[in-house]
Amino acid sequence: MKIIDLALSAAKKAGKLTIEQSQKPLKISEKSRRELVTNVDKASEKLIIAEIKKHFPSHAIIAEESTDLTTLSTNNSGNTSPAQNFAEAKYIWLIDPIDGTTNFAHGLPLYAVSIGVFKMDSVESSKNFEYLSGELVAGVVYAPKLGEMFHAEKGKGAYLNGKKIKVSKVAEIKDSLSVTGFPAHHRERNLPYFQAMLGESQAIRRLGSAAIDLCYVACGRFDTYWEFGLKPWDIAAGALIIEEAGGRVTDSNGEPLDLFGADILATNSLLHKKVINKFKKL
Ligand code: 2AM
Ligand code: CA
Repeated sequence: MKIIDLALSAAKKAGKLTIEQSQKPLKISEKSRRELVTNVDKASEKLIIAEIKKHFPSHAIIAEESTDLTTLSTNNSGNTSPAQNFAEAKYIWLIDPIDGTTNFAHGLPLYAVSIGVFKMDSVESSKNFEYLSGELVAGVVYAPKLGEMFHAEKGKGAYLNGKKIKVSKVAEIKDSLSVTGFPAHHRERNLPYFQAMLGESQAIRRLGSAAIDLCYVACGRFDTYWEFGLKPWDIAAGALIIEEAGGRVTDSNGEPLDLFGADILATNSLLHKKVINKFKKL
């Protein structure tokens, strides 16, 4: 089975599960202040992981509800690091079983299952940390309540429900529709950026699902998206989908996107430098 086909079918099954389970009372808890998780997030993640393990048992998995990222990061002690384990795995699946959990918990349809696949080249080591070198090769974002399945494979374009999608052609910030989000913790960090874009752009929206925000830039509904305080599973799939749709994704300074770096700027590519110049003045 091809990686993309498994990602598509797992997302479809998980999306169906979220709809079925949302008919019953949800069990909602807080992982930390303002960070919700429901029984459905956990069930969706379990289903996706079981599918991956059945077909690709040697692949590594980073998933929101079962991976503690702090155990994956720096390793100065000389011990075998998790990154080293990933090198043997060749592929890492980055899974958000429900991106937009707060929306889901409130009955809003703006949530998605997000599955990205990263192919490892090597584990590079610098003095203080190890990082994964490689590229995203597949991404699927499925918004089951909206009936929209986005997907991309490296070098093969991006698609919405099987039809090829492209970013918008808007070339001026004044004509752009932007979307952003506010981090669960330290929300105020985004306020200067929000204010700067609000002053110039046509309008700003705030949907509550990073994966959907990214896909909406990919299909031209939005022209720019930025956010701080994200995790790799929020953005992995959407980042590839935007690139394959002709858009550009970096961090908010214009440096190459680091999936573990927590901040992101995605645009239709025509607006990229203009937004970065604006952000640099803040
Ligand atoms: P989630 O629903 O999977 O948590 C909202 O602006 C976006 O931020 C959503 O994609 C949401 O994903 C994400 N998000 C919310 N809390 C987060 C946190 N503590 N860390 C990282 N991402 C978070
Ligand atoms: Ca989630």
